[in-house]
Amino acid sequence: MEISTKRLVLREFWEGDLDAVHAFAADPTVCAFVEWGPNTIEETAAFLRQCGKQLLEPRETITLAVTRDSTPIGSIALMRAESDVARGPEEAEIGYVLRADAWGYGYAAEAAAAMLELAWNVLGISRVVATCRPENTGSVRVLEKVGMRCVDYLPGHKRIDGVDRDSLLFAMRSPLRSPHA
Ligand SMILES: CC(C)(COP(=O)(O)OP(=O)(O)OC[C@H]1O[C@@H](n2cnc3c(N)ncnc32)[C@H](O)[C@@H]1OP(=O)(O)O)[C@@H](O)C(=O)NCCC(=O)NCCS
Repeated sequence: MEISTKRLVLREFWEGDLDAVHAFAADPTVCAFVEWGPNTIEETAAFLRQCGKQLLEPRETITLAVTRDSTPIGSIALMRAESDVARGPEEAEIGYVLRADAWGYGYAAEAAAAMLELAWNVLGISRVVATCRPENTGSVRVLEKVGMRCVDYLPGHKRIDGVDRDSLLFAMRSPLRSPHA
């Protein structure tokens, strides 16, 4: 699968991405608000192997490399079975991470908007959800910019660095569905 946006190409990961992915997956700044990492090189290699396994049908999770000028600068995913907040096969959770020197240029919002289009137009998803820490202002803003709205507060939702952290739950319904559906 490959999706081109104005400035980015979202494409499948491959083994040759190990160094580029590990550069951000091992960065404590990047991992501060997520439940994984900072990764060892073995953990990053396992992540890439897991992405390769997604290509076997049926594909429940779509994880794509966010690339700029052919180099991976991040990762974005649409998750169905793997998600604890998506309810059933017509819902998916979106998640993303970018390397720190790529923050602040609108890349996450550009990639997320493309993944929402994929969800509505190709996958027939009816509702996309996302969670993020309340203090993760950048991620909250990304979700707002792509049209998602905060619908719930989940106390102690994710264990991060040994502590149960609260999450905001964001959601958006497919614009292709009737407002009364
Ligand atoms: C969250 C993340 C993906 C955002 O990527 P990005 O490409 O910088 O996002 P965008 O540029 O599309 O949008 C970020 C928005 O948040 C704003 N923002 C970022 N940090 C902010 C802060 N500390 N305070 C206020 N606003 C902030 C930016 O100004 C921008 O809004 P604007 O376009 O209205 O100016 C990136 O910071 C990241 O990878 N963080 C680590 C992993 C992570 O937290 N992933 C999400 C888990 S829920």
